Amino acid sequence: MSLQDFLSTLDSLEGEASSAFDSAADPELLEAARVRFLGQKSGAIRDVQKQMGSIDKSDRKAAGMRLNEFKSNIQAAFDACKARLGGSDDSAVDPTFDPTLPGVRPNIGHIHPITQTISHLMEIMGRMGFEAAEGPEVEDPWHNFVALNIPEDHPARDPLDNFYLATARSAGKSSATRSNVEGSQLLRSQTSTVQIRVMENEQPPIRVISLGRVYRPDDPDATHFPMFHQMEGLLVDRSVTMANLKTVLRVFANNYLGDDVDIRFRPSFFPFTEPSVEVDFFWNDAWVEFGGAGMVDPAVFEAVGYDTEQFSGFAFGLGVERLCMRRHGISDIRDLYSGDLRFLRQF
Ligand code: PHE
Repeated sequence: MSLQDFLSTLDSLEGEASSAFDSAADPELLEAARVRFLGQKSGAIRDVQKQMGSIDKSDRKAAGMRLNEFKSNIQAAFDACKARLGGSDDSAVDPTFDPTLPGVRPNIGHIHPITQTISHLMEIMGRMGFEAAEGPEVEDPWHNFVALNIPEDHPARDPLDNFYLATARSAGKSSATRSNVEGSQLLRSQTSTVQIRVMENEQPPIRVISLGRVYRPDDPDATHFPMFHQMEGLLVDRSVTMANLKTVLRVFANNYLGDDVDIRFRPSFFPFTEPSVEVDFFWNDAWVEFGGAGMVDPAVFEAVGYDTEQFSGFAFGLGVERLCMRRHGISDIRDLYSGDLRFLRQF
């Protein structure tokens, strides 16, 4: 085929195509025209492309250029027609979609305020050289009571004040060394259990904190919940004094609550410390109680086999929820555990 014939074939096909697409009045006519001109199997473009082979080599370049133009013109006519008829399904634009509306913010999860508080407390105490220690939440009476100098008949062991588990104590075996201790396991009522666990396994000097859950059968109200968290601290060394205790707690309070926070000790009693104190922080014009503390009672050192002539130490236990609530202005402890995202999202 001569170049001339080829070009005129293209001209007339292009004319036919553009009038077919221009006049297509509905999607069916558009589809018919598409098959006729753009169809992969026997469309006009395909047919005419095949004729390229019969064109003189010297004319091929000119023919190819025109063919490309021809193809894009027909494609453009098709696209215009498609747009005019409202397009086919894949290009349909939802008329209710308003691109100017603000988007929906994806919900990104984050760390619970109590967990955040725990990390913060660990960091502050870590800077004072306290390492984190852990113990189980299901405890035996030895660690929760006996080694802490809380004897069998002590009211703190009352079943009404503790969550005892309804499991039979397996005789002997792993706890054989403390097999003289009777009673069923319980959910620990204080993190002081971890003091015992640490001292059973390590020799002084000891400088640990333990942050974790404790359980007491209190009816929930704004300041009580049957599960809460404590930060236990224990320091054992030679010639440790009450002044060391007070300094550590003051530095802690100033770091966590603010420079202007003052600290006060009130006389108290705990079986495992002597003397014992309640720890108050002066915060927003009021003294607020944050926990208990004292010098480790020699009876506790004896229970873990420490030499009471050589070592002394202090221990403290502060309420984590209380600290977190004061710092963030939370007024009801139940909000922390309601799982209400409107509340939790604020932290
Ligand atoms: N375990 C005590 C409580 O739960 C707090 C405490 C810890 C007191 C350590 C003194 C020393 O109330």
